[in-house]
Amino acid sequence: MAALQEDFTLSNGLQMPKIGFGTWQITDALEAYGATSAALAHGYRQIDTARVYGNEDSVGRALRDSGLPRSEVFVTSKLPAEIKDPDEALASFETTMAAIGLDYLDCYLIHAPWPWHDIGRDCSAGNKAVWEVLETIYRSGRAKSIGVSNFNAADLRVIIDGCSTRPMVNQIRYFIGHTQEDVVQFCRREGIQVTAYSPLATGKILRHPDLRAVAERYGKSVAQLCIRYVLQKDVGPLPKSTHEQRIRENADVDFEITSADMALLDGLSDTDKVR
Ligand code: A2P
Repeated sequence: MAALQEDFTLSNGLQMPKIGFGTWQITDALEAYGATSAALAHGYRQIDTARVYGNEDSVGRALRDSGLPRSEVFVTSKLPAEIKDPDEALASFETTMAAIGLDYLDCYLIHAPWPWHDIGRDCSAGNKAVWEVLETIYRSGRAKSIGVSNFNAADLRVIIDGCSTRPMVNQIRYFIGHTQEDVVQFCRREGIQVTAYSPLATGKILRHPDLRAVAERYGKSVAQLCIRYVLQKDVGPLPKSTHEQRIRENADVDFEITSADMALLDGLSDTDKVR
C-alpha cells in the first residue's frame, strides 16, 4: 500500500507520513491498544492521539510493543484546549510524556484556540503564552515539530505575528463537503501543513448516495473514496477505526480520482447530514 509510505515535508524539514491513524473516541484502554497495534501492523506510520482522548498510555504501549524502531513512527499528541496558562501547559506536557512513555513526540499541538465549553472565545493572549511553551519544548528536542488544531486564519495570525516559530501543522475537521477552504488556503500560503481529523465525518458521510455512486466507479468503498479525496487535496487524513479489516481498507487507497470527479466532490456540501 504505497500511500502509507508517502510523506509530507513540514516547514522545518521533518517528514510526516501523509496518512495517520486517528484515535479520537477510542477511550477503552484495550480497544485503543488493539486498534493502534493493528494500525502499526498494517503499515500505518503516523498515530494521532491527545491527552483529552484518555488513550496516550495505550498508544505508547502499543508502539513500544510493536517492536518498530521509534524513529519509524510519527506520534502526535495535543495540549488540552482548556489550558491557556504557561505553567499548566508545561505540566500537561509532562503528564502526556509520562503517560505515553516515549522520549519525544514527533508533533505536539494546541488542541483548540478556545476551551470546548466556550467555543469562539478570544484567547489570543493565552494562545501566545502557551505557544511560547511549545516553542521551548520544540527547542529542547522533546517535540520534533509543533502546531495547532482547530485554528482559523485569525487564530493563526496571532501566533505567526506574535511569536518566533511558526506552527508547522494545523489539524482541522475536514471531509468531502466540509473543506474549510479559507483556512486551508491561508495555511498553504504560510507553509503550514493541514491534516484532517474526521475524514469520514465520524462515519456520518458513509451512506451518502452521490459518494456511493462515485466510489462504485472505482470499485472502492466510500471510506476509501473519502480518504483518497483528502490525499489528493494535499491534506493528511487521520481515519479512525476499531476494526482491523477497516483499518486495513482505509489505507488501501492507491487509486486516482479523476479531476472531473474531484470537481464533482468539491461541489458537495452538507454531506454529513444524510440520513
Ligand atoms: P469503527 O471504529 O467501528 O470501525 P472518522 O475517521 O471520520 O472519525 O470516522 C470514524 C467512524 O467511521 C467510526 O465510527 C468508524 O467505526 C467508522 N469507519 C471507519 N472506517 C470505516 C470503514 N472503512 N467502513 C465503515 N465504517 C468505517
